[in-house]
Amino acid sequence: MPSLVEILKQSEHFLKGKGIVTAKLDVELLLSHLLGCNRLSLYLHSRNNMEGHLLSQFQHLLSRRGNREPLQYIIGEVDFYGLSISVDRNVLIPRHETEELVCMIISRFENRPIESILDLGTGSGAIGLALAKHFTGANVLAVDANQDALSVTQKNAMRNGITNIRFMVSDWLESIDETFYLIISNPPYLTDEEFENTQDEIKNFEPKFALVSKNNGLADIFKIIGTAGRSLVKDGILVLETGSSQHESIASFAKNYFGKFESMGDLSGKDRFVFLQNPRNLIS
Ligand SMILES: C[S@@+](CC[C@H](N)C(=O)[O-])C[C@H]1O[C@@H](n2cnc3c(N)ncnc32)[C@H](O)[C@@H]1O
Repeated sequence: MPSLVEILKQSEHFLKGKGIVTAKLDVELLLSHLLGCNRLSLYLHSRNNMEGHLLSQFQHLLSRRGNREPLQYIIGEVDFYGLSISVDRNVLIPRHETEELVCMIISRFENRPIESILDLGTGSGAIGLALAKHFTGANVLAVDANQDALSVTQKNAMRNGITNIRFMVSDWLESIDETFYLIISNPPYLTDEEFENTQDEIKNFEPKFALVSKNNGLADIFKIIGTAGRSLVKDGILVLETGSSQHESIASFAKNYFGKFESMGDLSGKDRFVFLQNPRNLIS
């Protein structure tokens, strides 16, 4: 039976051969997930041998990663704003930029009593759940067109003990007949071509429905901007995560629907978030 240190070395070599740049970290995370320990313990017990049945389970996990399946789907969870979020192939793996957006919202609205929040295209529920956890007085509605994604959201609410959140299947705002102080969405915004050029982990495993939108990636963003006004209270705000080259087109489209447009960058300096206020109520 091989020792942990041998397994760590051979597995890192295997994943490197598959072109995975984070090979060492990935092996440590897979192994510590399987053994239920932290990464440091792997090295503290590196001379221990691995039992046969655990070894075959580990080989299965490693071959999935070797096929470029995202580590988060293999492990089945990800940390997002201090929440443990379950993920499977029905939902997008929450991104760091989205966590930045949550931080931005929290610091901007910290001292305002937010009573109602709509998370449109909630997926795993990362945004809605993080905001529900922080703004405990807020009523959050989490919406997705995909019932299978919404089942993951519900599971994540229970897993994190969050109760100030409801769930609804809707094609964007079509079935919504309430108003909100904050509507937030990270909608699909890639073009087909951009999607085809993403790494294997994304294009072969993450749901295309969650990532790609027609009209140069802008169709869903425009649909939301064109219809959100009637679902906002006076002074309500629509916040969107977007592609980094879309702000000019969005600003030009949004001026028909909102009086105030604000573009914000992510930590890498790319245009990433849009804040819209003062609906013109020109919605048909
Ligand atoms: C980019 S993912 C965002 C997931 C999650 N909010 C996050 O930030 O990690 C887009 C989400 O929008 C959902 N979606 C796509 N089209 C939709 C539609 N027409 N109506 C409602 N939700 C939709 C997808 O199922 C997916 O969960």
